[in-house]
Amino acid sequence: MDDRLIPGTRPVSFAHPSEREFARILDFYRIGWLYEPRSFPLRWKDDQVLEMFTPDFYLPDLDLYVEMTTLRQRLVTRKNRKLRLLRQLYPDINIVLLYKRDYFQLLAKHGYGAGDVPAPHLESVLNDTDRILYSDAQVQASVRRLGQEISRDYAGRAPLLVGVLKGVVYFLADLARAIDLPVSLDFMAVSQYHHSEEGGALRIVKDLDEDIRGRDVILVEDIVDTGFSLRFILGLLRAREPASLRVCTLLDKRTRRLAHVQLDYVGFEIGNDFVVGYGLDLHQRYRNLPFLAVLAQERLHGPAAETGDCDADAEEISDSEPVGRDTIPA
Ligand code: IMP
Ligand code: MG
Repeated sequence: MDDRLIPGTRPVSFAHPSEREFARILDFYRIGWLYEPRSFPLRWKDDQVLEMFTPDFYLPDLDLYVEMTTLRQRLVTRKNRKLRLLRQLYPDINIVLLYKRDYFQLLAKHGYGAGDVPAPHLESVLNDTDRILYSDAQVQASVRRLGQEISRDYAGRAPLLVGVLKGVVYFLADLARAIDLPVSLDFMAVSQYHHSEEGGALRIVKDLDEDIRGRDVILVEDIVDTGFSLRFILGLLRAREPASLRVCTLLDKRTRRLAHVQLDYVGFEIGNDFVVGYGLDLHQRYRNLPFLAVLAQERLHGPAAETGDCDADAEEISDSEPVGRDTIPA
């Protein structure tokens, strides 16, 4: 039986609202999921399982387990210990832990908390707790390097640079001018996730003007985070049979990747921070900053922050209670 959830067809009782929201986001990206499909015994005494770990989600398309935590740090430490044990005992499974800040970033990126953001006036929008990640000059140096690499790799050809609106326009405009080849440009736009009960799905809202069959296509991205968007877009483009298809991204948030995607040209590999400027936005603001800045974590806590700490202790305790072997789901 295909256990995948088609939205609205199978009621799932989530332990926490953040899990329901994450499921909606997965639905949006058309990534199949199962909620708590499997428990992994971690410690035994005779026939008794003393400790188990039940990851919140399994994503069959990505062969990935996801454990979400909105817990306080003290409890995260315990969870990390369990996760280490799980990885030792079950080395073949892939699992990631999404921390509270990862979750807030996921929400911020999808439009939560809009309205709390000050109007952009270049530097003045940043407060003491924000910081500049890369200056204008550093960004431009990186763009020039990427332009040179592409010019070298595609010598004698005329690649088509494809951008996904709208964050990429700043980078794409500079990159195109740093490439010493007869490039063409094209754009597409995809739907945005909106929190709602009905959900929705990622789809093209503006398609390319060009037929890309037989062309050398370079998909240009501002930032690759979970990889969900890129995975979807590459699937679409590949089906149109370009002669070649590569990816160039200004920023790579590698440690947050959930869907594996190959990146051929990377400007900067960055850490787990929410970045704005040079095209990147928070609720459509900050795009016109000429530099890249990291927003302070508090800025990402809009209404989403109300989700709080959930029943952290209860969750931990029930996970650790002795359970007879025969009660463990397959
Ligand atoms: P992904 O599908 O999770 O890889 O997300 C990719 C998209 O999310 C990007 O094209 C951006 O629009 C947005 N995004 C991801 N991280 C950030 C960030 O730090 N700042 C602003 N937008 C971001
Ligand atoms: Mg965006």
